[in-house]
Amino acid sequence: MKGLIPAAGLGTRLHPITLAIPKELMMIGDKAIIEYVIDAMKEVGITDITVVVGWRKNAILDYLGSGKRMGVNISYVVQDERNGLAKAVGSGEHIIGDEPFLVVLGDDFFYPKTFLKDILEFHKKQDADATIGVAKIEDPTRHGIIKPGINNKIEDIIEKPSKKKAPSNLGCMGVYIFKSDIFAAIKKTKPGFKDEYQLTDSIKILIQDKKKVLFSEIKGTHIDVGTLEDYRKANAFLLERKA
Ligand code: G1P
Repeated sequence: MKGLIPAAGLGTRLHPITLAIPKELMMIGDKAIIEYVIDAMKEVGITDITVVVGWRKNAILDYLGSGKRMGVNISYVVQDERNGLAKAVGSGEHIIGDEPFLVVLGDDFFYPKTFLKDILEFHKKQDADATIGVAKIEDPTRHGIIKPGINNKIEDIIEKPSKKKAPSNLGCMGVYIFKSDIFAAIKKTKPGFKDEYQLTDSIKILIQDKKKVLFSEIKGTHIDVGTLEDYRKANAFLLERKA
C-alpha cells in the first residue's frame, strides 16, 4: 500500500509561526509534525509516500528530502490552488494509480506511532472500499462528523457541523484508507464548507454510490495541531512522556 500526506494548507491560525514555517514543519519535541506521520507509515510497512505540497512549501522538500534519512521513498506533487483537501488528495492520482492507499494529514500529531496498525488490519479484514479513522471529539465544528450505522458502517458524513446538527460525537481524525475509486468521487465533488472541495463530501459520494465505507476508532492520543494552543498541548504531552 502507498501513503499520501496532504501538506499544502496555509496554517493561518498558527500565525506568526507559519508566516515563515509551514505548519507541517513545526517541531514537536525534537521532530517536525510530518516526520511523526512518516514514522507511523513506516511502522506499518508503507514506504512509498507522496507528499502534497503547495505555495511556499519548499522547506518541506528541504526537511524531508528523498526520505532516505527516514528509510522511506518520498515523491512530491504540487497542489497549485488552495481549494480544499479533496483536491489535495486528487492531485496525487497520477502517482497512486490503481492501488489502495492510506492518507494521513501532515499536521496531526498522534501517539503512539503504532496507531495505524488496527485501522489497516480492520480495513483488510472487512474488505472495505474505504475506512475512515475516527475518535470521540468535543467540538464537532473542527471535524468531519460521521453518522455511524451497524457493523461500523458510515451512513452519512458532514464537514464541521454545528453542535446541533452533528449526527454523533465521532469525528474524522485525518486518517483515511481509500481505493482508487475515490478519485472519481473527488472529480464529482462540488465546493462545500467554506466554498472548498471537502474530502468529506467525496466520501459522501462513495456512500451514496453504495460503496462499503466503514469507520474504525483510532486509539491513543491525537492532537490536530490547528492552533497555538494545540501546538503547546502537543509539546507539553511529549515532554511529559519523555520525563
Ligand atoms: C480536516 C478535515 C476534517 C477532519 C480534520 C482532522 O480539517 O476536513 O474533516 O476532521 O482535518 O484533523 P482541517 O483540520 O484541515 O480543517
